[in-house]
Amino acid sequence: MYSTITTSITDNILIITINRPEKLNAINRFVMDDLDKAMDEVYNNNDIRSALITGSGNKAFVAGADITEFDGLGKEEGMLMAKKGQDVFFRIENSPKPVVAAVNGFALGGGCELAMSCHFRVASTSARFGQPEVNLGLIPGYGGTQRLTQLIGKGRAMELIMSGAIIDANTALQYGLVNHVSEPDQLLDTTLSILKTINTKAPLALAKAITAINACYNESKDGYIVELTAFGDSFATEDMKEGASAFLEKRKANFKGR
Ligand code: COA
Repeated sequence: MYSTITTSITDNILIITINRPEKLNAINRFVMDDLDKAMDEVYNNNDIRSALITGSGNKAFVAGADITEFDGLGKEEGMLMAKKGQDVFFRIENSPKPVVAAVNGFALGGGCELAMSCHFRVASTSARFGQPEVNLGLIPGYGGTQRLTQLIGKGRAMELIMSGAIIDANTALQYGLVNHVSEPDQLLDTTLSILKTINTKAPLALAKAITAINACYNESKDGYIVELTAFGDSFATEDMKEGASAFLEKRKANFKGR
């Protein structure tokens, strides 16, 4: 089904592994198509409640867009390439189910942008982040100028994108680019354990929370209106009744996603 990624489901979590370790998991057009298809699975497969994205091998999460594909591209092709990447990463960002990046090494250029399109990030101590496109006479094109600014603020985003500097996991933690840093051999377990906890929560509430939080970064939407509408809608779900009843009856809630 996939040629450049592998997938497996454990505890209702789809683990998506970019699988081009000999090219440091660089994103070529096939990886982008496979990621798009994997998001179809996340959106449509009822057995999947959340997803984790990581890279194969111990060196790279993703070392960027595949530079060998840049040869001979002009303005139009460059825009089309950015549009495709932005569209796929937009689907990740707006997935109704949580998607978390487990960053296991270099997350550069499109790799940093892929990680930033996820709902949040967990990094191993070996992770390295950066937007080195200026070294190639380029700028980030898969949403990096927007999401890096949202995540770490304008001054830091300006400096990272202008300098092409690469930062380590602890600096990324200090900047708020990642939520946690773990030892490399603990990265998957740490991330899976966070997702397992999230998977016990009401699925429709998770989807509504994602929509409302993302509305904060969408100027065409009033996030407060999105929030109050989603809050109201939550009262019409079976899960809300189940959650409130379970609390009052001092038992664990059994959410059905209805
Ligand atoms: N696109 C295509 N191929 C890439 C790649 C990318 N973004 N990043 C790494 N590779 C390939 C290398 O060409 C090399 O292939 P080869 O063995 O056939 O020569 C292989 O992956 C291993 O990379 P290498 O550069 O030898 O590893 P390193 O440990 O010396 O350096 C990096 C690691 C990440 C610092 C270096 O690979 C790098 O700078 N990559 C490009 C990062 C970048 O600019 N990304 C933004 C792209 S817009």
